Amino acid sequence: MSTAIRLLGICGSLRAKSYNRYALNAASELMPEGMTMEMASIGDIPLFNQDLCDQGMPPAVSTLRAQIARADGIYFATPEYNYSVTGVLKNAIDWASRPPEQPFQNKPVAMVSATVGLKGGVSGQYDLRKILAQLGVHLLVRPEVFIGNEASKFDASGKLTDEAARKFLGDQMLAFRDWILRVRKLG
Ligand SMILES: Cc1cc2nc3c(=O)[nH]c(=O)nc-3n(C[C@H](O)[C@H](O)[C@H](O)COP(=O)(O)O)c2cc1C
Repeated sequence: MSTAIRLLGICGSLRAKSYNRYALNAASELMPEGMTMEMASIGDIPLFNQDLCDQGMPPAVSTLRAQIARADGIYFATPEYNYSVTGVLKNAIDWASRPPEQPFQNKPVAMVSATVGLKGGVSGQYDLRKILAQLGVHLLVRPEVFIGNEASKFDASGKLTDEAARKFLGDQMLAFRDWILRVRKLG
């Protein structure tokens, strides 16, 4: 079995200067050797409508489902909107979760959140954990990474400059690698 680990990164924000996208980029940069991260694009996914679903998966949804299915692990970067996840992220997960072959089942998952608030999106991140647990993922429970007061942690180019946050993220990616290898062994 290959030891290469391919992650799919999913950002819950669509805006160009998203701190969560910056955090995703930082996680990708801080991953240990042997890991790669493909970035998902959820901006073209229509609002979920069962009538639409009955006509077949829209192309953007099929792409996301295929990306999830072939990834060794999913890494989310989620903003917190009104103490929960963003509508676009929930919408993407709802689409991707429809049968047949629900692709989140048994998939290793880890996450980060970045917010303007000092708590770094604890509430939003825990809502995401609840949603994904229901879909049968193997969640990396710890280390948790919450990036609060986000504007002070990144520079103008979007680079994560806060040393403590970089350390937390790097440690989390190491733990995620080990988690994925453990889940693989379980078969
Ligand atoms: C609709 C909305 C609701 C928000 N609710 C919260 C919140 O509950 N807690 C918080 O810390 N920040 C909240 N924020 C601020 C976001 O944390 C901040 O805009 C963050 O930068 C969004 O992530 P992004 O930079 O990846 O787009 C909210 C922002 C919006 C637009």
